[in-house]
Order: sequence, then structure tokens, then C-alpha cells
Amino acid sequence: MALSGLFLVFFLLQHFTINLTSIFSAEIFNELSHFMGTNPLVQFALQPVLIFGVVFHFVMGFVLEIKNRNARAVNYAKYNGGANASWMSRNMIYSGLVVLAFLGLHFYDFWIPEMVHKYVEFAPEDAMRYYPELLHKFESPIRTGIYVISFVFLALHLWHGFASSFQSVGFNNKYSIAATKFAKAFSIIIPLGFIIVSLVLHFTH
Ligand code: HEM
Repeated sequence: MALSGLFLVFFLLQHFTINLTSIFSAEIFNELSHFMGTNPLVQFALQPVLIFGVVFHFVMGFVLEIKNRNARAVNYAKYNGGANASWMSRNMIYSGLVVLAFLGLHFYDFWIPEMVHKYVEFAPEDAMRYYPELLHKFESPIRTGIYVISFVFLALHLWHGFASSFQSVGFNNKYSIAATKFAKAFSIIIPLGFIIVSLVLHFTH
């Protein structure tokens, strides 16, 4: 769970960096997207690994949740979960489900049309198409709103998930406190960045 989560955190950083360029330079965004979308190493090696990482992470999340629920045959007479575990940590399954629902919408918006364009229609490659397509997707205020709300849940999910992954992989030394601080900062800054990108793209249109 922790390793696949850490892998997805790296992906998020990379994804955010490329998206961020879209609000500064359409040209750079087009260039990077064209590279990512046509490079065989990215398409046929990294992309399948990423999809596997995403599916693995959410399947393991469900398995873990079911195991946790079944671990106690008899329920507590009085359960005060908040006594030693934060609200976020006890609700990872729900924040995760919102992120999963977002990914469904996001794949419908971007990934599926991209696969159809390239591998079903075999449409001629146009290195300038990425930015106009991106702007078009953020035209709708409802779509933009759903994205923004999803990124708030992404922040909640990362807030507990990223920091606790260090402990899960056995990283426990004098750098642990700094690592936790970094993870907490990351879990706010990156989703906030995604929110800003979405809003700028929406209002640019
Ligand atoms: C402002 C926010 C975001 C924008 C504008 C955006 C945009 C895009 C675009 C343009 C693609 C390209 C599809 C392709 O060419 O294959 C993509 C793919 C993808 N995005 Fe996002 N994205 C955003 C946020 C996120 C977030 C927060 C996540 C994860 C929680 C995410 C996960 C993915 C995944 C898994 C793919 C498929 C990657 C691939 O295999 O090509 N995105 N996104």
C-alpha cells in the first residue's frame, strides 16, 4: 500500500509540473504533452506501470479496509476512534473513493479520448492540439467545480497517506520529523496547485 502510494506521489509531482506549465506557456505545455504522448518508453513502459500502480493501490485499499473491519469479531461497547487516530486516518477509504470517482471522470475526460485518438482512429499527430483541448475541458463551471472539490479530498487523503507511508516502509530515524513535515506540506501544496491550475484554465477561456 505504502510503496504504491509513494510511487503515485512521484507521478502526482510529475503530472502537476507538466500541468503547471499550461498556465504560463501553451507552447511548453504542448511540447511536453506531445513528448509524453508519443514517446514509446512513456507510452508502452511507464504508462502501463502507472495504470498498474493506480489499480493496485485502490484494490489493496479495499482489501485493507475489509480486513480492518473484520479484525474485531465483537464490536466495542463504546468506540472512541478519535482517541488515538485522526479523522483523516480513519476515513482514508472515503477520501480514496472520492479520488477514485474523480479518476473515473478524469479518464473519461482525457485518457480515453487520447487512446481513441491515437490507437482507434489513428488520427494524424498534431503537436499543437494539447493546449486547446485542455482549455476546452475546463470550459464548464460544473466540471471545474467537481475537479476543485476532488482536489480537496485528494489533500485529505495525502495528508494522512503520504506521511504514514514513511512509517510503513520502516523509515524511522532522525529525519522522520522533517520527512513528515515535508509530506504534510506536499499534501497541501500540490492539491492547491491543481486547484489553481483548474481555476486559471477555466477563467482563461
Ligand atoms: C488541474 C488538474 C489536472 C489536469 C489539468 C490534468 C490533465 C491531464 C491530462 C491532459 C492528461 C493526459 C491524458 C493523456 O494524454 O494520456 C491526464 C492524464 C492523467 N491524469 Fe491528470 N490532470 C489533473 C489532475 C490529476 C490528478 C489530481 C490526478 C490523480 C489523482 C490525475 C491523474 C491522471 C492519470 C492517472 C492520468 C493518465 C496518465 C496516462 O497514463 O497518460 N490527474 N491528466
